Amino acid sequence: MSIFQIKSLSKNYGAGESTVQALKNISIDLPKNKFIVVLGESGSGKSTFLNMIGCMDKPTTGEIIFEGTDITKLNKVQMTDFRKEKIGFVFQSYNLLPDLSALENVEFSTEIVNHSSEEAVKAVASVGLKGRMHHFPGQLSGGEQQRISIARAIAKAPEILLCDEPTGALDFETGIRILEVLKQVKEAHNSTVIFITHSKEIAKIADVVLRMRSGEIIEYIENETPLAPSEVEW
Ligand SMILES: Nc1ncnc2c1ncn2[C@@H]1O[C@H](COP(=O)(O)OP(=O)(O)OP(=O)(O)O)[C@@H](O)[C@H]1O
Ligand SMILES: [Mg+2]
Repeated sequence: MSIFQIKSLSKNYGAGESTVQALKNISIDLPKNKFIVVLGESGSGKSTFLNMIGCMDKPTTGEIIFEGTDITKLNKVQMTDFRKEKIGFVFQSYNLLPDLSALENVEFSTEIVNHSSEEAVKAVASVGLKGRMHHFPGQLSGGEQQRISIARAIAKAPEILLCDEPTGALDFETGIRILEVLKQVKEAHNSTVIFITHSKEIAKIADVVLRMRSGEIIEYIENETPLAPSEVEW
């Protein structure tokens, strides 16, 4: 069963001679309740693709059907509602609010969907930062901020978890732990995870691997025997 049916999706940035075709006529069905890894070199369109699925931005042409609705046709308010209700997003840049503590950043996302603060504390603990939860983003290392942004996304127990290079700044052990947490969230809540990485090793834990090049999906591989995160060599 698919969660997104994507039809003829294109995204151009800019106009005239400086137009960049970031996505070129992509048509694909993404399966539900799977761990999907997106691989591809820098500039191949991975973040752009994720932003379209997460209703952060509109495509130039094409459709993204989710539960019978074309989410590319939503207005601004509907786009925001869709993101709040359905999506946990871990951005390539961590996007933490600088004037809120680590825990408050996580609570901020859970409040939106009326979870208790307990969920926020649990999420912070699951990324190994309970001892730092009252620190502000400016007092945290890059990797710690990244982990807080992951806690923020998973605290919502979202139906769809979109992760843009979330393990980039993390060491081996922390990275494995994060992958384990994401897999647990997926199993516990029947979430669909879409996870961008440059790492072919991390791709081995995926149920499905998409490979992008120059704005196109050039490969779709179903992995019959995904590795457990603990089996990944970093
Ligand atoms: N806001 C923008 N304005 C103009 N061009 C953009 C914009 N965002 C992305 N692009 C261009 O679109 C193409 C795809 O960018 P995208 O960020 O999706 O790549 P990516 O695969 O995520 O790369 P990376 O691995 O470096 O994060 C690139 O050529 C990029 O320069
Ligand atoms: Mg990117």
